[in-house]
Amino acid sequence: MTLLELLQDYSRSKALPMHMPGHKRNTALAPYLEVLGAELDITEIPDFSNLHDPVGTLAERMKDAAALWGSRRAWWLIGGSTAGLLAAIDAATTPGDKVLIARNCHKAVYNACMLCRLETAYIQPTCFPGQSFADCITPAQVEAAMTAHPDTRLVVVTSPTYEGIISNIPAISEIVHRYGAVLLVDEAHGAHLGLSDHFPASAVTQGADIVVQSLHKTLPSLTQTAMLHLCSDRISADELGFRLSVYQTSSPSYLLMASIDSCVQLLTGQRDELFAQWKQSLNQFHNALSLHHLSIPLKNIPNSDPSKLLVSSVGTNITGPALAERLRTQYSIETEMSTANTVLAMTGMGDTANDLLRLAKALNEIDSTLSGSLSITAGALPLPQAAMPIYQAAKSPIEFAAVSEAAGRISGDFLWAYPPGIPLVVPGEIISRELIAYIRDSASAGVDISGPKATPVGQLRVLKKG
Ligand SMILES: Cc1ncc(COP(=O)(O)O)c(C=O)c1O
Repeated sequence: MTLLELLQDYSRSKALPMHMPGHKRNTALAPYLEVLGAELDITEIPDFSNLHDPVGTLAERMKDAAALWGSRRAWWLIGGSTAGLLAAIDAATTPGDKVLIARNCHKAVYNACMLCRLETAYIQPTCFPGQSFADCITPAQVEAAMTAHPDTRLVVVTSPTYEGIISNIPAISEIVHRYGAVLLVDEAHGAHLGLSDHFPASAVTQGADIVVQSLHKTLPSLTQTAMLHLCSDRISADELGFRLSVYQTSSPSYLLMASIDSCVQLLTGQRDELFAQWKQSLNQFHNALSLHHLSIPLKNIPNSDPSKLLVSSVGTNITGPALAERLRTQYSIETEMSTANTVLAMTGMGDTANDLLRLAKALNEIDSTLSGSLSITAGALPLPQAAMPIYQAAKSPIEFAAVSEAAGRISGDFLWAYPPGIPLVVPGEIISRELIAYIRDSASAGVDISGPKATPVGQLRVLKKG
């Protein structure tokens, strides 16, 4: 039985719930509970096992997930890829270890390094030619970084990136393993990879040791649902399972878990036809598109994920946020993210051909009103110089400094645009003049750069001197 079937059976049994959750499936009390599917919202009662110690149906259905992607073992996650990244990094390291991070990793990776008291070294991706978003991490960059940091315990790479760039995981894993380190691939944006000929391979079968995927980002599964795959014996499964129980709630939602299981069962049964339909809709989108100013820079780029429709406004008289705003207000199309000169329209398995044709039509119409312009935003920032590890700076006394006077001070916070939540500077790094200029340029393009901690407008958190 799938978890959903088990829950439906149980709901029909009319058992008296003298246990959590407190709504007791009483939809007369709160009608919204019915809409939210509360009749299936239970807790860990006999026969329903436990996410943190799966047996019976839960264990069997998790094996289905491992079989679908081809991993040694898969864990369902109800805390998103965030929980998977925290647990994986904790499981793979001990305090003081060195971690080599692709600088365009998500904030969860940095938070894990802070919590686990890790030393960090970085690989700075170059910009995709002519654009301001990150290109792939190359094997040559990994080789150079491992030569400089041969004591690295763990390497973390995001592939595909938010924009859809895929790195050469087979070559990178070969290098990482040659140095005796472990490779964690943040595949949060690539849960749909490796399941059909229409999309690229997944890192799960390409040499990564651990892979984390957000099902909710691209597949038919509820928000917060994700998957952690163990793909080699370089990391202990027991340790991973334990760390997951540390970072995830002790009361996991059966609605979220049923959504994961249903998604896996759907793909197991119908993936060929579902992925073929998705790819066909994408092809129809590209055929319908007729752009003279805007562009789709990753179209036909072999190391990219075709599901991501990244629209570039480089060389036009519109910024990314302004383009997103026109799509929202004139066409009721809400996009995923905009940067100074890109807008990301994410597709997912749930899109229909008509949905994507509607997007193509809107882009064509907006494009016909645009002209060329001189506004091109600067590329990647140089890697900041680190004065101390993240974990040390994050616990040090801070004060506020005006942005204009912060150059040369040590940052007491992360700074990023959210989304994508990729830090421009992390606690312990020295704030550069280039960063100050970048914050100002971004603000004038309508992109807010800020950190997770409350900070007065126009100021930055910096470490107290002395
Ligand atoms: C690259 C990357 N990794 C990890 C995450 C975290 O994923 P989740 O929202 O599933 O926790 C995100 C979220 O946007 C992301 O972009």
